[in-house]
Amino acid sequence: MPQEREQVRAQEQVQDSQELRAVEWTGDALALIDQTVLPHRKEILQVRDVDGLVDAIQRLVVRGAPAIGAAGAYGVALALLQRDREGWDEARLRAEIARVRAARPTAVNLMVCVDRVVERLAEGLDAVLAEAAAVQREDVEANRAMGAFGADWLLKRVDADRPLRILTHCNTGALATAGWGTALGVIRELHARGRLEVVYADETRPLLQGSRLTAWELVQEGIPHYVQADGAAAGTILRGEVDAAIVGADRIAANGDTANKVGTVGVALACADVGIPFLVAAPTTTVDLATPDGDAIHIELRGEDEVLEWAGVRTAPAESRGHNPAFDVTPGRLVTGLVTERGVLEVSAGELPGERLG
Ligand code: MRU
Repeated sequence: MPQEREQVRAQEQVQDSQELRAVEWTGDALALIDQTVLPHRKEILQVRDVDGLVDAIQRLVVRGAPAIGAAGAYGVALALLQRDREGWDEARLRAEIARVRAARPTAVNLMVCVDRVVERLAEGLDAVLAEAAAVQREDVEANRAMGAFGADWLLKRVDADRPLRILTHCNTGALATAGWGTALGVIRELHARGRLEVVYADETRPLLQGSRLTAWELVQEGIPHYVQADGAAAGTILRGEVDAAIVGADRIAANGDTANKVGTVGVALACADVGIPFLVAAPTTTVDLATPDGDAIHIELRGEDEVLEWAGVRTAPAESRGHNPAFDVTPGRLVTGLVTERGVLEVSAGELPGERLG
């Protein structure tokens, strides 16, 4: 039976980021803030079936490891509802849930959250929805805890008698999570404590999660910031204009190697060169102890057009091929601190996730 896409776009005013919910269950559909059109248009995409959810995850309507984890968790509920509408058998239901689980390969949160909710499948829709809501609630709680742990660590370890200048890469805020944010949550906490001078937000090529989404969230919060080209980051750090860098993660291996948005490893190398902290903030749902090291992390390769075009117009010569890895791997030896909801692991000093979080 052909899958009928049931997506209804509704123009809605997105509330300020304190209340932002990138992913929201509405009773019979999943409402996603369409992150492909922010900040110029604020639209909510109502997703009602598995095809629609897989497409939304792959097009980055919903993105960021914890947010796609939450979307995947509710995806199990969408599949159950679609089974009832379309009369799927058990094998078809399992196959459709597997498609949600595999929609993007790098962020382990997607797999972890789908698997967690699938455990409740036999109990029916209410149990599945309760588990998905718990995934969402626990992510917000984890983010709040990380914000406090990360800010405490930075204020203790960075020797500065003035508010801090922090560099970040990609978007790790409310949009990328179930709420509040990971690395951006630490930044928000520093700002709330009056200990933040400015944020350098890397624009994050090629899809501009930094200049479109992080800058938008920082504006909502009234946080002073500069957007800079990714290529400016190392120079800004080497000139001494940054006290610490903090980023999120899509998958952290047992040895601390960290996959995050492409461009992250250059930031980490520059921090190591000048001896400032490079922090990764991520919930333990992003730590994959079954993955021994970064070489074992599947890095998503995205379509060539994302780097060969600009705003839909071809910029590279017609003969050129594009190379478009969505993520890179920062070796654990460059990760000064891994901030999780359980505290801070000093990975480069030997506190490995595989030994401390097992
Ligand atoms: O391709 P994206 O936008 O999903 O990549 C997102 C990132 O790399 C984030 O830094 C990561 O998922 C952490 S979000 C809290």
